[in-house]
Amino acid sequence: MADTMQGLKRTHYCAEVKESDIGSSVTVAGFVQKTRDLGNLVFIDLRDRTGIIQLAFDDGTARDIFEKAAAARAEFVLMANGKVRARESINKDIPTGTIEIYVDDLRVLAKSETPPFEISDKTNAREELRLRYRYLDLRRAEMQNALMLRHRIVKIARDYYDQNRFMEIETPCLIKSTPEGARDYLVPSRVHPGKFYALPQSPQLYKQILMVSGCDRYMQVARCFRDEDLRADRQPEFTQIDLEMSFVEEDDVMTMNEGFMKKVFKEVHGIDIETPFRRIRYDEAMARFGLELNDLTDIVKDTEFKVFRGAIDNGGSVRAILVPDAAAKLSRKEIDKLVDFVKAYHAKGLAYTRLTADAETSSYEKFLTEEEKMGIRNALGAKTGDVILIVADPQNSVVFAALGALRCELVKRLDLIPENSFDLLWVTEFPMFEYSEEEGRWMAMHHPFTSPRLEDVDKLLSDPGHCYARAYDMVLNGCEVGGGSIRINDPDIQSKVFEALNLDEATANERFGFLLEAFKYGAPPHGGMAFGLDRLVMLMLNKESIRDVIAFPKVQNASELMTQAPGEVEPKNLDELCIAITRTEEE
Ligand code: AMO
Ligand code: AMP
Repeated sequence: MADTMQGLKRTHYCAEVKESDIGSSVTVAGFVQKTRDLGNLVFIDLRDRTGIIQLAFDDGTARDIFEKAAAARAEFVLMANGKVRARESINKDIPTGTIEIYVDDLRVLAKSETPPFEISDKTNAREELRLRYRYLDLRRAEMQNALMLRHRIVKIARDYYDQNRFMEIETPCLIKSTPEGARDYLVPSRVHPGKFYALPQSPQLYKQILMVSGCDRYMQVARCFRDEDLRADRQPEFTQIDLEMSFVEEDDVMTMNEGFMKKVFKEVHGIDIETPFRRIRYDEAMARFGLELNDLTDIVKDTEFKVFRGAIDNGGSVRAILVPDAAAKLSRKEIDKLVDFVKAYHAKGLAYTRLTADAETSSYEKFLTEEEKMGIRNALGAKTGDVILIVADPQNSVVFAALGALRCELVKRLDLIPENSFDLLWVTEFPMFEYSEEEGRWMAMHHPFTSPRLEDVDKLLSDPGHCYARAYDMVLNGCEVGGGSIRINDPDIQSKVFEALNLDEATANERFGFLLEAFKYGAPPHGGMAFGLDRLVMLMLNKESIRDVIAFPKVQNASELMTQAPGEVEPKNLDELCIAITRTEEE
């Protein structure tokens, strides 16, 4: 049987025992990191979420306590009481390395089987294994840090926005399906057979309604659900710090949220970031900063290479990133991985040239004339040692999304940004619409409630391709961390936007009738934005994957490895919901 805690209460977290505690009696509790048994001496490194402290036992220790210590194994749960004393051999690697606890009382509160991987700061355990045993993985300091940072950012958000008179209001999670871009997650209704709720992709419509309700300034730490292809920076469920404000224009929303970022960076990293942030227009942003996105369309406009030809003939473009001095680091194999990476952004491929000193290799140059080939190299200013990466697509938005994300990925892979260097800016004036070949119509680039610039209202129907939105994205080191817009509060403009989107009145009413109706009763001018909390934490900690900052994330195929969700349900449950399964995964 395990020991009990009776008579002992924790007085300190492990790493919070200090040299100034020498001579006093403390009680700590945690997991065994490792034990060293030297026969007449036993040392145990005890770990809790703050760090490690050394427990010491010797021939002066009571026999039963000494035996328990000698029998302890990795990940046993212990509680120990004893006197703090100076250590003989100092360990410079840990903050408590100059002290130890000379133990009087030791309780083995729980034993542990040998864990499937060692709980250490840097692990080389496979990610699947870490996720399968996530509770063990989360014991690692690196994961604890990430969770703590999330917590602190949320706390700062709640405090900051509260000080600025925002109110946190919860909006429902079981809502009406109003597809916004991604596919909805659906929840069947038992009471209304054949009907479904959707899980919110964001609280967008509710927060706008709250402005009509006079709530004036709303915020929420909101869980969002989107059934879309997963990538390193996307999860099917994720968290937004979501805001909306009444009686504001772009500047007001931006200034308010720059203030939040300033506070986050100050409190978390002790860094003063400069405000106001730089602002660049979308068109400019897509062409510049960091690794530039270069438009090659003109250079290859007469090419016979079918990949480029097809993209250009169908209204798209051919664009490239030049990665300086990367030929040695980006092997063929690495580039193959990047091909898979851009495919997750719906690019059909990634063409490359590696200008290694001894052998130039290229996937596309053989299809081009000498003039076109050199035209590209010269336009990019490519030199020996560089790598050229090209995406061509009939849809410019695919080219931008794929190369934009690739740029961000390269920055991480090639360590192009020094640690703790953070570049924040706004991208403004997004196009209102992008043309979808698939749907054969214009689609809202942000969402259908985003206001066009006033000077573009007249062009909504005649020239939708040249209408710009009062939308803004916040970009951190080249990656989008948040976005929002000033909304439409004029029913006439809203109708025009629906018309431009080819949404007839009946469909618009069926989908958003409640919002349109609410707007008939006095909608203040309003706008807002949402931060992707997971992404923000990921970027602040320089993590490769969003999964590393989420306690229980999902993997590529949207399953959760620890609980094995999603799972099957009892036929009886399906019956109640009037649902019949017509196909299963195995088929
Ligand atoms: P948007 O769709 O741009 O805007 O989302 C805002 C921010 O949320 C984060 N994000 C994600 N994070 C992880 N996984 C995902 N699948 C995912 N999708 C988005 C991003 C993004 O910048 N309602 C609007 C906001 C508004 O207009 O106020 C919205 O949801 O960091
Ligand atoms: P293919 O003739 O289809 O084999 O393509 C020749 C080269 O062009 C290959 O290296 C492909 O990876 C690359 N490629 C294919 N599609 C695209 C695309 N949409 N954008 C850029 N490169 C592409």
